[in-house]
Amino acid sequence: MSLYERVTALHGHRPWGAVLDAGTGRSSMRWLLGLDSERWTAVTGSQAMADRTRREAGERMRPQDRLLVGNWIDPGLLAGDRYDTVLADYLLGAIEGFAPYWQDRLFERLRPLVGRRLYVLGLEPYVPLSPTDADGRLVNEIGRLRDACLLLADDRPYREYPLDWTLRHLERAGFRVADAEAIPIRYGERFVHSQLDMCLQAAGKLRDRRLAAPLLAHAADLRARALAHVAREGGLRHGHDYIVTAEPA
Ligand SMILES: C[S@@+](CC[C@H](N)C(=O)[O-])C[C@H]1O[C@@H](n2cnc3c(N)ncnc32)[C@H](O)[C@@H]1O
Repeated sequence: MSLYERVTALHGHRPWGAVLDAGTGRSSMRWLLGLDSERWTAVTGSQAMADRTRREAGERMRPQDRLLVGNWIDPGLLAGDRYDTVLADYLLGAIEGFAPYWQDRLFERLRPLVGRRLYVLGLEPYVPLSPTDADGRLVNEIGRLRDACLLLADDRPYREYPLDWTLRHLERAGFRVADAEAIPIRYGERFVHSQLDMCLQAAGKLRDRRLAAPLLAHAADLRARALAHVAREGGLRHGHDYIVTAEPA
């Protein structure tokens, strides 16, 4: 079951009403389009993401639906608006790229917009840890190499927050946590390719080619080792996503 299917199950028979996708993208848009909503608004901080998401929505976007490029740090964004259901899908981890060090304000910023329910989908941080099992070591090596390449190329990697941090900050922001669950992850080939491709792109931007060459060789070696492991073991079982259901207190 995907995280989105799990959210749909958690929602049960409640009406979706007006829905806000507070950190949109193609995947959450696909989910949004399948809901029986009265209207939806989808927000992204990036014009490129907005263009991709609009293409995904295509003709299924109705006159009452809106796709906006904005930044939650701007107090005017959707000021005075209200939604029955709000989804914050992998938004917390991505804040670092758009409003660095502002993560502690996110839930209080969303609070007046939430009429009934907020679903927070997040990833338990894994990059700073040192797992000892083979799956964990590979996932960790991939994450560290990706982030190192991004930093060297002047980019900002995601900054993920643990479930207990999220629960604490939701309560401080005036929410009551109705449900919280951790969902184990099995990474496949797509993860290996997508994360290491980010590393290749970043290494391609490095002016110091003497630094880029060993990074590229290391990424190729890691890709081969990770793909062999996925083929042999059926995936990389490591870490978890979480879904928190919160309601205005
Ligand atoms: C990792 S993507 C979310 C994944 C997405 N739901 C999907 O379907 O794949 C993070 C989203 O949050 C947005 N975002 C991050 N920080 C933001 C901010 N401060 N204000 C508005 N949007 C932000 C990004 O622009 C992006 O659209």
